[in-house]
Amino acid sequence: MNSAVSSPLSLRPIHQNVAAPEPMIHLSGVTKSFGGNTILRNVTFDVPKGRTTAVLGPSGTGKSVLLKIIIGLLAPDHGQVLVFGESIVGMRVRALFALRKRLGVLFQDGALFGSLNLFENIAFPLREHTRKSEAEIRSRVIEYADLVGLSDHLSKLPGEVSGGMKKRAGLARALVLEPEIVLFDEPDSGLDPVRVAYLDELVVKVQNETGATFFIITHNIASVMRTADYLGLLYRGDLVAFGSKEVIRTSSEPLVQQFLQGKADGPIGMDEMVDSR
Ligand SMILES: Nc1ncnc2c1ncn2[C@@H]1O[C@H](COP(=O)(O)OP(=O)(O)OP(=O)(O)O)[C@@H](O)[C@H]1O
Ligand SMILES: [Mg+2]
Repeated sequence: MNSAVSSPLSLRPIHQNVAAPEPMIHLSGVTKSFGGNTILRNVTFDVPKGRTTAVLGPSGTGKSVLLKIIIGLLAPDHGQVLVFGESIVGMRVRALFALRKRLGVLFQDGALFGSLNLFENIAFPLREHTRKSEAEIRSRVIEYADLVGLSDHLSKLPGEVSGGMKKRAGLARALVLEPEIVLFDEPDSGLDPVRVAYLDELVVKVQNETGATFFIITHNIASVMRTADYLGLLYRGDLVAFGSKEVIRTSSEPLVQQFLQGKADGPIGMDEMVDSR
């Protein structure tokens, strides 16, 4: 399903053919520029159903742009994006709205509503997208608050809880509509390593329990080694490698090893690698 990507680095990109479950998200030849600055170049990969796929990249490489293209907030200049097999490029607003109900998104900063308590934040998608009764909403919110360990804190405002709790509330809100795909933009940002490890355990647990397709973009290598089944490496707009975690982890490709070890010394040889640690 995947084809080789061209790289301006003149490095041989590795691109494993993923003989994997059917793709829930399919990108081919996705290219995006802003004012002559190419952010994503010919990006091609599949996100397999019911697994966790992570795309790693240093800061400013276009990870958030990639996520916005997948959810239809930004249109690519070229290329195809299929979500649930449907092309989202040029999709009409109503169809896009219906499709987004099947997606949960955990934004980089949690994006909670500061004036709503955690209960109301988690309940928000249910009120917005469903006609559930108050009792049904209550029971669903409690179910998901339980899953992320927040049931004792539902009356607190986002400003009254820790960063890790905000992330967990954001995760509960992303999950409450029981989406088939959950997308995460840097779930680890702003958390200390212990809380990142705890959140990773939670991500693995929730993925196992829900069987949903998870897609994570981050620069935290240690974190994705715990959570992901498939890994993509994004560097200066090119997807330089994509494959199962084991294939990527054990690749002898110097570029991949340099990337995973975050070393400044190697074929990339750029300061940016420091950011990918
Ligand atoms: N709407 C936009 N208009 C113009 N430039 C943009 C826009 N969105 C993103 N960019 C540029 O695209 C580049 C990639 O941005 P992006 O936010 O995707 O990076 P990132 O990999 O998510 O970084 P970080 O790890 O810091 O979150 C940046 O140089 C940014 O300035
Ligand atoms: Mg980002």
